[in-house]
Parts: sequence; C-alpha cells; structure tokens
Amino acid sequence: MKHDQSQALFERAKLTAPGGVHSPVRGFRGVGGAPVFVESAKGAWLRDEDGNSYLDFCMSWGPLLFGHQDPEIKSAIEGALSRGWSYGTAERYSLEFAEDLIRAIPHLQMVRFVSSGTEAVMSAIRLARGFTRRDWILKFDGCYHGHVDSLLVRAGSGLAEMASPDSAGISAATASETLVLPLDDESALEQAFEMHGAKLAAAIIEPLPANNGLLLQRKEFLQKLAALCKKHGALLIFDEVISGFRTALGGMAEITGITPDLVTYGKIIGGGMPVGAYGGKKEIMEMVAPSGPVYQAGTLSANPVAMQAGHAMLRKIQRDNPYPQLASMGECLVGGLQNLANRHLPFPVSIASFGSISWMVCGDAGPVRRIESIPADQKANYARIFHAMLDEGVYFAPSGYEVGFLSTAHTGKDLDFAMSATEKAFKKVRG
Ligand SMILES: Cc1ncc(COP(=O)(O)O)c(C=O)c1O
Repeated sequence: MKHDQSQALFERAKLTAPGGVHSPVRGFRGVGGAPVFVESAKGAWLRDEDGNSYLDFCMSWGPLLFGHQDPEIKSAIEGALSRGWSYGTAERYSLEFAEDLIRAIPHLQMVRFVSSGTEAVMSAIRLARGFTRRDWILKFDGCYHGHVDSLLVRAGSGLAEMASPDSAGISAATASETLVLPLDDESALEQAFEMHGAKLAAAIIEPLPANNGLLLQRKEFLQKLAALCKKHGALLIFDEVISGFRTALGGMAEITGITPDLVTYGKIIGGGMPVGAYGGKKEIMEMVAPSGPVYQAGTLSANPVAMQAGHAMLRKIQRDNPYPQLASMGECLVGGLQNLANRHLPFPVSIASFGSISWMVCGDAGPVRRIESIPADQKANYARIFHAMLDEGVYFAPSGYEVGFLSTAHTGKDLDFAMSATEKAFKKVRG
C-alpha cells in the first residue's frame, strides 16, 4: 500500500503544526511511522490522500455511533447550515435538544452546552468547587478527562501525597489540589476518604475507563465510590465523554444504576460535531452563571449546527435503539479477532470489550482493571498488529492504549472483510 501523499503532507505539516498534527495521538508516535492523511470518510470507511481505503474501527474516537456521514445527521447539519452557523444569541435549537436530553436521561435535570469534553470537565470541576466550597479533587490513575490542568496529573508516592504534574506547564500548586488513586481498589478509596474526605469537592471517574485501554471496573467499586462521596459530601462526577450514548442512552449511569451528581459529555453529544456538555442535579447546576456565582461562558457554546446534529443523533438513538445491534456486532468482532489471535499471533492477545468498544491486550495478562496490569510489551506488540492491519486496509486507533469503536454503519460484509484482513495481518505479524 502506497502512502506517498500522506508522507509528503506530513513533512509539510511538521513545518506549521507541532509534530505535524493538531492533537498528539494523531501523530502515530504510539505506533511509529507517518500518519495516514484522511481525505474523506463514508459509512464505516476512510479514504486517504493516496486513494487507499480502510475499514475504520476508530470512528473519530467514538462519537460516530452511526458511522461517517450518517444521512439523518448530515441532513440536520445541512438544514442547520442553511439557517446560519453561529448566532451568539439565545436560540431554540439548544433549548429543544436540552429538553429532549433531560426527558431521556433521569440524572440530567439541567444541562449547559460547551464546545469540547475538556471544557465540560473543567467547568464541572469549577462548579463542584463552587457548590461545595471545597478545593480538592479526587481522580483515578488510568482515567483521562481531557487536558484540564488539575487533572493532567499523576499519583504521588502515597495516599497522603497529592499528585504531581503530568505535563510541562502545570504548576505544582495546581497539581497539589488533586488526589490520585488506583482504580479497582476499595480499601484505597476508604483510606483516602477517611484522610481527606472533608476537603474533597468531587471525585471524577470515567465509569468505563477507556483512555488507557479498556479498564473494566467492577460495579461494587463504583458503588463504593458513590457511597463514600455521599457520606463525605463530595460530588460524584461521571465523565461519560466516551461511554455516554455509546453504551446506552443514559451511559454507564443507566447501566450501573448509580446516579452521579454531575455528568460530562463530549464529542458524541454532537454526533461528531465539536461540542461538549455538563449537567446534573438542578440545585447544583443553578450555581452556574448567570443564575449563580460559578462563572462559565463560551462564544461558540451551543453552536446551532452542533446542536441540530446532536439532536438528530438523539432522535435516531431513541427511534432505532442501536445498542442490541452494536452489542451483537461487538461480540462477533471480538470473537473473530480472539480466534484469529489465538491461532496466528506469536504473543498472547486477549480482547477486552464492552458492547461496541473493544481493546486488544497485547501480552500476558489477566483481566486488566488498572494501568499497572497492562502488559509491559503492549506498545511494541500493538504497533506490529496496527501496521499489519493498516496494510490490509483496516484502521484501528494508532495507539495500543486507545480503544476501538464500532458503528451501526459497519455491515456484516465489512466484518467479513475485517476477519479476512485480520487473518492475513496476523500471519504477517507471525512472519
Ligand atoms: C473520558 C474523556 N473525558 C474528556 C475527554 C476530553 O474531550 P475533548 O477531547 O473533547 O476535549 C476525553 C477525550 O477523549 C475523554 O475520553
């Protein structure tokens, strides 16, 4: 497969953008080589600048539940464009979308639309601090919440220690107000709440951690977290930027039966347009400006095109209930990949999955619920698989720590193609 155009574009892009990309993982540093430059996408397929086609299992990192250019979402976007694409005023599109979301999701009593998942999380954290009048935040090692300063941190060396910055440019003072705990560890939770519970404004968690592989959590762990938050007066924030609308309409809150105080959404809530949202209990949300003292604003917030795209996606979810179809496709994909991996790969691979989300654990490991359990050779083994698959026309995320996504646009024929491409790819990896 030729990549001359992508290579040339990458060389040019490096002159104008750091690392040649506008978001780090797109730069293929996790798998090596030059990124594929995509020219267009339709259904379950990507087409690159060299004219190669790839069956897409990344789906813009999750939001494209119905695939690229879903006709109903596209027509909502086109309709929106014909009425103008930014007003900077009150309008009815966000109102109607909010009303339908609130009707559909019981723990969402009020919502504020923003423009990205990062912005949603950053605002929810500020709101939690404003509401509780406390400063500290608890997060979990292995969960990603966007590039919010106070959450771009890693664990200190003990429970009593606050986090240290995980990126240059984040002050030690900012990191010092975040506590980082391991996932899947009730006793660490109890100890931390015992020591610091009264200082915690909120605990934030991806209830389905899907940014460092897929670290499936036990329901008991999430329930314990919810109970401790309640007991100590800290807010529970579910970051459902990935799991919201993808696992169920009400996301992991619906699936686990746990009611968060606040929930954050990103990309998927706009059907793939740039949008995010945070929301939750009314008494908390009413603290947000202009009704309350917690300031948060955005010129492009509730962008009318994104609102109408998101609303079209919501209506389609409600009408079609895509989750059983996604789950059975997920089972089929995972079963097929696992079988081929067992037969052909020279190293053990097990596939963790939840509905339409999956992740290849590349190396010896039991169930991976924490980052420490990710095999040491994950990155290197995955890179071999990734490139072999890419050569056969299958595009998985360009990082061994990112998950794969299915959409309803993936057909049975596409999955057959995936299986025969995978067989060839895995044989190549074996050599
Ligand atoms: C769980 C979670 N939270 C927050 C974010 C940040 O969202 P965005 O990239 O839209 O800023 C992401 C991004 O992938 C995410 O997966």
